[in-house]
Amino acid sequence: MSEFSDWFESRGPSMTYWKGVQVVKHPSDLFAIAKIIWDTKPDIVVETGTWHGGSALFYADLGVEVHSIDVAPSKTPPEHPNITYHRGYSTAATIHYFVSEACRGKRTMVLLDSDHHKKTVLDELGLYAGLVTPGCYLVVEDTLLGVEVWNEPDNSFVDNGPAAALSDWLPDHPEFVLDFNAEPVGISQNPGGFLLRSHG
Ligand SMILES: C[S@@+](CC[C@H](N)C(=O)[O-])C[C@H]1O[C@@H](n2cnc3c(N)ncnc32)[C@H](O)[C@@H]1O
Repeated sequence: MSEFSDWFESRGPSMTYWKGVQVVKHPSDLFAIAKIIWDTKPDIVVETGTWHGGSALFYADLGVEVHSIDVAPSKTPPEHPNITYHRGYSTAATIHYFVSEACRGKRTMVLLDSDHHKKTVLDELGLYAGLVTPGCYLVVEDTLLGVEVWNEPDNSFVDNGPAAALSDWLPDHPEFVLDFNAEPVGISQNPGGFLLRSHG
């Protein structure tokens, strides 16, 4: 392992907390997302992958309505009047239906942060990218996974993670443009994962 990957692993996302709840993100990504929410003013944020609920709580505290989906959140996530939790697979038809209905007529931002294997990311892109309103963002998280410094011991994410999914999907979706300026200065777990929907 390189010095950088040692640092990345040792100072990993578990170091991040919001109001005492763990967030599986680097603070730099959380701040970049906060800036996007401030700049683009979505009414509603959809995230796949709740885990402890730290990211949902953070977005909710920024004043947006949050719909957070998880098949098995790790503990009871925090309650907040702005948050609706959906328990089930992000790809389940019922979950997709309820979330789509919630987004109807609202400025919508989507973050994909559940199972990071290529197939699930592609399935989620197929279901949720279309909910993003022009002028808002789609964030495909953990594009670093399996690409550079960060991997599972069995290498199962090499060419099989979010970045691989995006490189298949993006050429067929010119309505989304990669916005490298939206990435945090410094470290990001999501390089090449911040997409602005430019048109319908
Ligand atoms: C990386 S964690 C989410 C982290 C959270 N967004 C945060 O920033 O703190 C991934 C979560 O996705 C959930 N998950 C994995 N595959 C899923 C799927 N297909 N549908 C819904 N949730 C899934 C897991 O149960 C896990 O809690």
